[in-house]
Amino acid sequence: MNDLVRYALDGNVAVLTVDNPPVNALGIGVRTGLKEAIERAIADPEVDAIALVCAGRTFFAGADIAEFGKPPASPTLRELHDVMERCPKPIVAGIHGTALGGGLETALACHYRIAVPGAVLGLPEVKLGILPGAGGTQRLPRLVGVEKAIEMICTGEPIGARQAHQMGVVDAVTEGDLREATIDYADHVAAEDHPLPRVRDRDRLIAEAARRPEVFQAAREHYAKTRRGLMAPQHCISAIQAATEMDFEGGMRRERELFTELLNSDQSKAQRHFFFAERQARKIPDVPRDTTQREIATAAIIGAGTMGGGIAMNFANAGVPTVIVETSQEALDRGLGVIRSNYERTARKGRISDKDVEARMALLTPSLEFTDVSDADIIIEAVFENMDLKKEVFAKLDIIAKPGAILATNTSTLDVNAIAAATARPPSVIGLHFFSPANVMRLLEVVRGDKTAKDVIATCMDLAKRIGKVPVLAGVCHGFIGNRMLHAYFDQAYALLYEGCQPRDVDKAIHDFGLKMGPFAMADLAGLDVSWRIRKETGQTQPIADRLCELGRFGQKTEAGFYRYSQYSRTPQPDPEVAAIVEEEGLKLHDTRREIDAEEIVNRCMLALVNEGAKILEEGIALRASDIDVTYVHGYSFPVYRGGPMFWADMLGLDRVLETIKGFHAAGHGDVWQPAPLIERLAAEGSSFQDHDQAGG
Ligand SMILES: NC(=O)c1ccc[n+]([C@@H]2O[C@H](COP(=O)([O-])OP(=O)(O)OC[C@H]3O[C@@H](n4cnc5c(N)ncnc54)[C@H](O)[C@@H]3O)[C@@H](O)[C@H]2O)c1
Repeated sequence: MNDLVRYALDGNVAVLTVDNPPVNALGIGVRTGLKEAIERAIADPEVDAIALVCAGRTFFAGADIAEFGKPPASPTLRELHDVMERCPKPIVAGIHGTALGGGLETALACHYRIAVPGAVLGLPEVKLGILPGAGGTQRLPRLVGVEKAIEMICTGEPIGARQAHQMGVVDAVTEGDLREATIDYADHVAAEDHPLPRVRDRDRLIAEAARRPEVFQAAREHYAKTRRGLMAPQHCISAIQAATEMDFEGGMRRERELFTELLNSDQSKAQRHFFFAERQARKIPDVPRDTTQREIATAAIIGAGTMGGGIAMNFANAGVPTVIVETSQEALDRGLGVIRSNYERTARKGRISDKDVEARMALLTPSLEFTDVSDADIIIEAVFENMDLKKEVFAKLDIIAKPGAILATNTSTLDVNAIAAATARPPSVIGLHFFSPANVMRLLEVVRGDKTAKDVIATCMDLAKRIGKVPVLAGVCHGFIGNRMLHAYFDQAYALLYEGCQPRDVDKAIHDFGLKMGPFAMADLAGLDVSWRIRKETGQTQPIADRLCELGRFGQKTEAGFYRYSQYSRTPQPDPEVAAIVEEEGLKLHDTRREIDAEEIVNRCMLALVNEGAKILEEGIALRASDIDVTYVHGYSFPVYRGGPMFWADMLGLDRVLETIKGFHAAGHGDVWQPAPLIERLAAEGSSFQDHDQAGG
């Protein structure tokens, strides 16, 4: 064959071993080698059956990403599957590691599948904005029925081998040596009667589903809600439905059409960009992957408030023993109580067991003594946002913490360098900016101080992954990446109120654009009092919000803010009292109020993000535009199908972006609309943020 596919005989079984490290991607070399190997086995009179296994750590983990976007080279995956399925001698796939995407589709084209207990199988294409395009949408429902196929394909979530066995995706789970077991299985089925079982011929479950088309309508509605705005899940459902309405060949054609539509869509471009952006974000040019790390076996959190409690949960979930320090027994009890009730709620939903709740609580040690953090490998401070207090805490930690411990602050706005300077060990100090609720939100801004050591950064980037977070490296500035941009966004949202909008106009436009909620619903959720207090401390004003706060309207927690809420519902209801305040304050700034359409609302808010993002990039606060995208999708519910604000700007075209920004400046919307020099330069060059990233920033 070729050097990617080995051919060997074991008695009457031809053993095909694919060896294409690191993950046995199904590139053209593997496809060609496999096709030739199968043809050779067919031609060999000594061979009665074929065992297909992979060397290394996994079965085929998917298509070859390097071939993405290139014209398909023959044999395509579909052509290969055709050869396999029509093979007159049984082919048995032996699965270990991860059989994902094209990998699972290849297994489905075999006559039998066996797997080791640790194997994981899935069709994650939807996460790239596409669908399984090599028969996955046609074969899987034939094996497991349409409901289960819809769930697996529309969520993209993988399943374990045992579940796959129960569902009928694999024929057996083997505890023994996989290669031996696959050969034995092949040997055994070779003796059985023909015809060979081909997934394409199994029509019972498909015929059943054809009589219940309402299943598809219900699924469409479900995914329209849970995956709002995303095309791919809807196309996946259409492809699966086609399996119930056409013969196999017809269904395959329909799958191809739908696949191609998705592949060429802006959504898929955005989702593929985002897929790479997430991986790229972990790479830091001057902190190589092999940087020696500090060991993190234990943690401590200072402060058991909103953030401290959520942060502690992340560590307990990852099995890391964690001390939580507070100033009073009452605060400690309250903090631990919230953590317990969060876990109990999760247990009631069936996502963890009662035993898990106790096991996680047992990992948390409440304490009123600072000295109890002396053994912790990492200490994360989450006390009130006050510089003097933070300095005091860090000076204490400097005395108590063991040498080599990482000292992290969860500050949202304060200068990490100044906090580090309160210790005699600034290289060990770093910002770890979690987002609220800290046990849920996936983003973690890792804030690098001027003196933060490289091994501390490397350790925190990896730790983030261990505790289920997506890290983005940020430099020190007010608000880091996310909140600094959010500031610019909120300024525009408020400006729109003064000019003519009501909160619901702005929120609706932003929600329709794809964010989970608009700025004013978000402000109500977060609470208006925090920023009011800061404004009063710093001598700033925001007349509309100030007046709401003076009326005790702090948002959802007081059942009134920019909207009214009832005791039973968090659905924002427009409130005439607010409308009157908005109008009054608006007319103090402008002679008249004007109609503002959704397009202007979206452009004002989103381009404010983009312009500020470009400045952040130029200043080196973010390493890449794609890191900003990761920040916004994971931290601020920016729709993944738009790829993040910077990618969205690229799709608009930076020349258009620049023209619109200049237009806002000319219209008198303020000096914030001075275009970022980087946008001017990239637009003049006809290039994009993506080009800028690729050129190394
Ligand atoms: N709330 C958010 O959305 C959010 C998001 C990201 C970051 N942050 C940052 O996280 C930090 C904490 O914010 P929060 O919302 O959790 O505040 P919080 O008021 O809910 O909690 C602060 C806790 O710290 C405790 N505390 C105060 N001084 C202490 C000391 N010396 N030793 C031990 N405990 C002490 C308090 O008793 C309180 O329980 C702040 O720096 C804030 O800027 C907050």
